[in-house]
Amino acid sequence: MTGPLVVRTREELRAATEGTIALVPTMGALHDGHVQLMKHARPLAQTLVVSIFVNPTQFAPGEDFDAYPRTFDADLERCAEAGVDIVFAPTVDVMYPDGLDATVSVDAGPLGQILEGAQRPTHFRGVLTVVAKLFGLVGPDVAVFGEKDYQQLTLIRLMARELCLGVEVVGCPTVREADGLAMSSRNRYLEADERQLAGAINAALRAGAASGREGGTAVLAAARAVLDEHGITPDYLELTDPDLAEPVPGREARLLVAARVGRPRLLDNIALNLGGN
Ligand code: PAJ
Repeated sequence: MTGPLVVRTREELRAATEGTIALVPTMGALHDGHVQLMKHARPLAQTLVVSIFVNPTQFAPGEDFDAYPRTFDADLERCAEAGVDIVFAPTVDVMYPDGLDATVSVDAGPLGQILEGAQRPTHFRGVLTVVAKLFGLVGPDVAVFGEKDYQQLTLIRLMARELCLGVEVVGCPTVREADGLAMSSRNRYLEADERQLAGAINAALRAGAASGREGGTAVLAAARAVLDEHGITPDYLELTDPDLAEPVPGREARLLVAARVGRPRLLDNIALNLGGN
């Protein structure tokens, strides 16, 4: 199995890519969830590029930027497994030529201030700014993101459309451990007892979704009951429509949760059908 070509600059990228391009942006510490995105992206274009860049501007001071796991050699093996052609692993200078305090950035708008954005007010500005830069550097026709970070996927879709970036944004279902825990690079921070408890987050969402026909109040109550039973206090547990607006009875909805279990904050979400008319 030949591994992917590793490139670090726009010039190297331009020389190596040909035909249509699919991009899977990541921060490395790759797990099966990332590999699934790559496998999904593989048939969508002639050249498959995975970017690995731990983006400083999406971490607030005091968050885990320095501690974020960096496992480059293992990441290359995961990329080889999925048939990736090119790994784009830029330096901070390539991504931020005018420094981290450059004056232009992408405002995520009102949907960037709810849910995760209410807890991390500068997070989505950092995410959208780096993704816009990656689109500019790589020039993809299509880019693939996970539903695991549902608000991020929604905002990137909006950005691509509203800023006319000409990139098709594709979402992929969340890849989970056997007990339902969504795979995440941060799960490795969980101690053994916390790891056991963490399964309750997805169990809560499933309980909520199972109550969909009884309406929004029942959904939230059923999910909260499972969290309470396990002593988990969520940062938020909210029901929205698929575009993160108010849920509509009789339509599809999304139930989203974030909770700290031990050191990491864990995110998850689920689609459900709401009862009513
Ligand atoms: P990262 O957390 O590395 O995730 C990279 C991509 O993998 C994202 O689209 C994320 O939603 C997806 N992903 C993570 N866990 C997943 C799982 N269990 N199942 C399916 N997909 C999963 O998200 C980021 O990096 C960054 O914010 C980034 C978009 C790269 C910008 O810096």
